Amino acid sequence: MRSDLLVVSAAEIVTAPPGRGPILGPELDRPLRIANASVACVDGRVAAVGPTADVLARFPEKEAARVLDATGRLVAPGFVDCHTHLPFAGTREMEFEARARGETYEAIAAKGGGIRSSVRTTRATSEADLTAAVSRRLAALLAQGTTTVEAKSGYGLSLDEERKQLRAATRAGAASPVEVIPTFLGAHEVPDEYRSRRADYVALLCEAMIPAVAQEGLARFCDVFCDRGIFTVEEARAILTAGKSHGLLPKLHADELADVGAAGLAAEVGAISADHLLHANDAGLRAMSRAGTVAVLLPGTAFTLGLPYARARDMIAIGLPVALATDWNPGSTMSSSMALAMTLAVTQMRLTPAEAWMAATANAAAAVGAGDRVGRIAAGFEADLCLYDTPDHRHIAYHYGHEHARAVVKGGRVAWERVDSSICS
Ligand code: NIG
Ligand code: FE
Repeated sequence: MRSDLLVVSAAEIVTAPPGRGPILGPELDRPLRIANASVACVDGRVAAVGPTADVLARFPEKEAARVLDATGRLVAPGFVDCHTHLPFAGTREMEFEARARGETYEAIAAKGGGIRSSVRTTRATSEADLTAAVSRRLAALLAQGTTTVEAKSGYGLSLDEERKQLRAATRAGAASPVEVIPTFLGAHEVPDEYRSRRADYVALLCEAMIPAVAQEGLARFCDVFCDRGIFTVEEARAILTAGKSHGLLPKLHADELADVGAAGLAAEVGAISADHLLHANDAGLRAMSRAGTVAVLLPGTAFTLGLPYARARDMIAIGLPVALATDWNPGSTMSSSMALAMTLAVTQMRLTPAEAWMAATANAAAAVGAGDRVGRIAAGFEADLCLYDTPDHRHIAYHYGHEHARAVVKGGRVAWERVDSSICS
């Protein structure tokens, strides 16, 4: 049979075992690993994956429109970066330096820096410039093997400014091979003009911003930063409930700075994911496990801010689906690297490299409601994959701070190839 693209003779293909849902418990450490493997892509989807001889028997090389030689290389699913704050303007190196001098993230925020600083810069940036910035970031993500990215607003904090951010993310996504999944995070912080009347801002979110964003189809999810000094559990419950009533599925920034009971709230509202969870309590985590809420771990944030890492092993032990993401934002995690997130997951949270791969692909896809179509190299799934200059899946997290991606395929098309052909091991 004819194929649009054939990825031939990989040293190893690593991907989730057959299925569509998130991977739990001991299964997380048992991915499918196929030696001397190939993938055939037809109409943007995987038509066959398996041992090279089996795939070529059905999809011969001479009938392929294009062939990618994966000899000696690892082939893995494209990363799904399921938590980023991509449409931001400006950067915050001054805060990075201030923390080195002993200031804390919360103290900087209390003085009007932090998120509110990025809000001022993002509001002052035109939609065209913001879109161009997102486009550049998508190009950087693609070159590191990320093929799907969730992108939150939250640096606008008014209806028009949040709209601007969501449109910038969506438009840049439409022009990029990387798929962008937009999330409304109007409840990222209380904006400067509402500091003395925060209830009015919560009412604005529930009664005006959420209905408009949902009606205009600008976002799929509604997120709230529910933490010490930001939004309370009661406020977050009201906002997420309003979101749900308008068809926006709940997500939550939960218990990053302190245990405020946000993990329990995530379970209560049936959130698709609760993210960060550095201080989440056991009851909250167990409730999430019962509710099927994905725990999105963002080790880059603990790394950047010098906070304790999330208790990933405890989460896996109680059957919570664990996912990994970068949290790319100008404050707490200025990183676009899913590979680095995997390194931190292995070295700081004791995931095995195989578990880190599953968390960064199949489970990350589940965290954005896309686990039935991306995050796996499996027949019928979108053909999103990356070829790496190493034969071993463990090498990517192990050899950190180095770019290993050689070619990236999105929707069955070669979306990026490295021009420099040097191989460094
Ligand atoms: O996920 N925790 C809340 N939001 C971001 C930080 C945003 C910022 O500092 O600009 C986070 O870490
Ligand atoms: Fe975040």
